[in-house]
Amino acid sequence: MGLEFSDGRRAEIGAARPYPDDSAPDALVVMSAGGGGSDRSWHARYWVYPLPAPGLVSFVATWPKFGITEARVEIDPPPWIAIPSPCLLAVAAGRGRFEQKCPRRSHPAGVLDAVRSIRAHHAQLTSALADRVRSVRDAVRDGGDAHAARRGLVAFLDDELMPHAAAEERTLYAAGRAAADGRLLVEAMTEEHRVLAGQLAALRKQREPLNLALSAAQIESLFGVHLFKENELLLPLLLDTGADLRTLLFDTHHLLEYQ
Ligand SMILES: [Fe+2]
Ligand SMILES: [Fe+2]
Repeated sequence: MGLEFSDGRRAEIGAARPYPDDSAPDALVVMSAGGGGSDRSWHARYWVYPLPAPGLVSFVATWPKFGITEARVEIDPPPWIAIPSPCLLAVAAGRGRFEQKCPRRSHPAGVLDAVRSIRAHHAQLTSALADRVRSVRDAVRDGGDAHAARRGLVAFLDDELMPHAAAEERTLYAAGRAAADGRLLVEAMTEEHRVLAGQLAALRKQREPLNLALSAAQIESLFGVHLFKENELLLPLLLDTGADLRTLLFDTHHLLEYQ
């Protein structure tokens, strides 16, 4: 099996030259990156260097024993593959020293602590929300006091979760909205805050136990999806833009204290 770029560069899997090197820096390198399977099917992953030339990339296979002289599949690489990421550039600069795959960005002291602290607070909110939602569900299932459990959930949303949302809209979200890549993400997340507020309003009026349990579960699942975006998309984006997360975190706490 092998790989061929549109400019004619090709490499066989398993051929010599396992690493990019100075003697032929543009030579195509294909290395095994693991795989697995059974006696019926098999898959494999490969690490390829450098980025493909513009145009189609061909995967070529021969298996003379079974009469396959050359089978060829051509794919059109997605446009993003042509944009060298800092990680890929570091591989090129590292000449195959894989520990240098991704450059470590340096951040001012305390910024990564701020990220950890925001994520830890999100984990606390998630766990506290899960406790209250579970209380509602258990009460509905066991014929307990579902309305007392509902009041507990509403109080938590009123006192902790919604104030957190309002404060971060003025700090972290404002910084994210100002970033070139952040505007749409922040708009979507702000809309999720509005949907959460609507679900809270519905929960306040909910009297039928089964609907109460459903409302509580909806809030928990929306919050889970929402937090993924905050932790894994917004915070890395803010780190990338060099936003001062220490100040943003301080401002968020400040707003929460003086709301
Ligand atoms: Fe949020
Ligand atoms: Fe948050």
